[in-house]
Amino acid sequence: MFNKILVPIDGSRCALAAAHVAGEIAQRFDSQITMVHVVEPPTSVIAAASMAGVAAANGATDEALGPIADEVLAAARQSLALPAERVTQQVVLGHPAEMICQVAAEGGHDLIVMGSRGISEVRAFFMGSVSDKVSHHAPCPVLIVR
Ligand SMILES: Nc1ncnc2c1ncn2[C@@H]1O[C@H](COP(=O)(O)OP(=O)(O)O)[C@@H](O)[C@H]1O
Ligand SMILES: [Mg+2]
Repeated sequence: MFNKILVPIDGSRCALAAAHVAGEIAQRFDSQITMVHVVEPPTSVIAAASMAGVAAANGATDEALGPIADEVLAAARQSLALPAERVTQQVVLGHPAEMICQVAAEGGHDLIVMGSRGISEVRAFFMGSVSDKVSHHAPCPVLIVR
C-alpha cells in the first residue's frame, strides 16, 4: 500500500505540513515520493495557445521558471526528511488541479498528500480550489492536511 506518493507543493505553509505527513507515511510504508510544483501560465498564454489550436501548454516545462520552482521544492524537501534517493521532483506548466491529477495518473501514484489551503488569501472557504478539485477528480486516494 502507498508505494508512490505524490505531494503537490505551492510554497504554502499547508503544503509544507502535507510534506511532513507524507514523509512520515513514506517511512512506515517504504514509499517513493514525487513532489510536483505546477507553474500556472498567464491567461494570455493559454488564450494564445488555444487560438493557435495548440492544446494549452499543458505538460511543458519552462526552463526560465526552473530556479524559482526549485527553491519552492527545496524547502519542502526538508519537511519530507527522507533520503534523497526516495524523492523525485517535477515542475510542470498548466492548470494546477488538472496537472496534479494527470501527474498522479501517469506516474502510477497510489496516494496524493496535499494541503487544504495554499498561498491565496481567500479564507472564506474551508478548502482551496485546487485541493477541492483534486479531491473530486484524482485517480487515487487524497489526504488533505490542514
Ligand atoms: N501550483 C501548485 N502546484 C502544486 N501544488 C499546488 C499548487 N497550488 C496548490 N497546490 C496544492 O494544493 C493545496 C491547496 O491549495 P489551493 O487549493 O490553491 O488553496 P488556496 O486557494 O488557499 O491557494 C496546497 O497546499 C498544495 O498542496
Ligand atoms: Mg492556491
